[in-house]
Amino acid sequence: MWFCKEAQYELAGRVAVVTGALGAIGRRLAARLAESGALVALADIGSESDGAALCAELNSGRGQRVAAYRRADLRDAAQIAELLAWADGEFGRVDVVVNNAGLASPHGLYSGGETADRMAALLQVNLLAPMEMMRAFAEYARAHGRPGVAVNMASMGGLVPNEGGEVYGAAKAALVHLTRASRSLMPAVRVCAVAPYYVDTPMVRNNPKLQNNPTVYPALMLSVDAVCDATLACIRDPRSAGRTVALIGSASARMWMYDVVGVHIKLLGAWSLAAAAFWRLLGY
Ligand SMILES: NC(=O)c1ccc[n+]([C@@H]2O[C@H](COP(=O)([O-])OP(=O)(O)OC[C@H]3O[C@@H](n4cnc5c(N)ncnc54)[C@H](O)[C@@H]3O)[C@@H](O)[C@H]2O)c1
Repeated sequence: MWFCKEAQYELAGRVAVVTGALGAIGRRLAARLAESGALVALADIGSESDGAALCAELNSGRGQRVAAYRRADLRDAAQIAELLAWADGEFGRVDVVVNNAGLASPHGLYSGGETADRMAALLQVNLLAPMEMMRAFAEYARAHGRPGVAVNMASMGGLVPNEGGEVYGAAKAALVHLTRASRSLMPAVRVCAVAPYYVDTPMVRNNPKLQNNPTVYPALMLSVDAVCDATLACIRDPRSAGRTVALIGSASARMWMYDVVGVHIKLLGAWSLAAAAFWRLLGY
């Protein structure tokens, strides 16, 4: 019933696996999860020493170990399967998985330069790895009789076509579709997704599209914290199963909504631009 509000899923004491943890969004998300009281099991293809440095930052001054790191190449299904067993061994359980690792390509499918190997890697990291992880997590959650939550980091490029980002966008679109189809995993695992527009990260700062259009794109650009806010909200919201949160807007003018279709995205973009202009006029 609409008036019976379901309790929020609390993060304190939960164990969260975050992939792509050494990236711009991953490392901030790890910190935000730890600040919310979760223990974080972090994975990335980056070196053990970079992982150890991130864990040292996260563990510092907390009185207990809240972060552990494992180097894993998510193109390898066996390494994905091992991640959950490792995280369980480190912290005694796994409650949350954030499939955040991602790969972009500077080449378009039709504008030249894209290779078969890179296309395979884009599909492996952006789509097959989250698929494999969710399958493993569903088995884990059922075997332990403990419900879990999984978040897939999709992209606006998976909701609206992006010239030059066809393969990446196709992988992210499939991830949104997979998220919707994974509603069937309830109640064992609640799966949701976050689809951000451009985020203020190295992944996009050198994007020629932004550099050629210095007004519109930056006005809609998101902060890393806005993406983390939406990810945490997605985890906490018991109604998020199968849903994708679309995110667009500047730091001062951002909003998000569920179950979007194309028309919503256009309205959301128009609203964000109007709000950004309004805030600028007011001098914020
Ligand atoms: N930055 C943006 O504007 C933006 C917009 C929409 C969606 N996203 C998505 O958000 C997520 C994080 O993006 P980001 O901006 O932090 O990017 P990033 O490149 O900073 O981080 C991605 C991380 O994934 C890791 N990774 C790549 N291949 C891997 C592999 N084979 N095995 C294990 N780890 C691997 C990288 O080492 C890196 O640390 C990605 O899924 C990305 O597609 C980003």
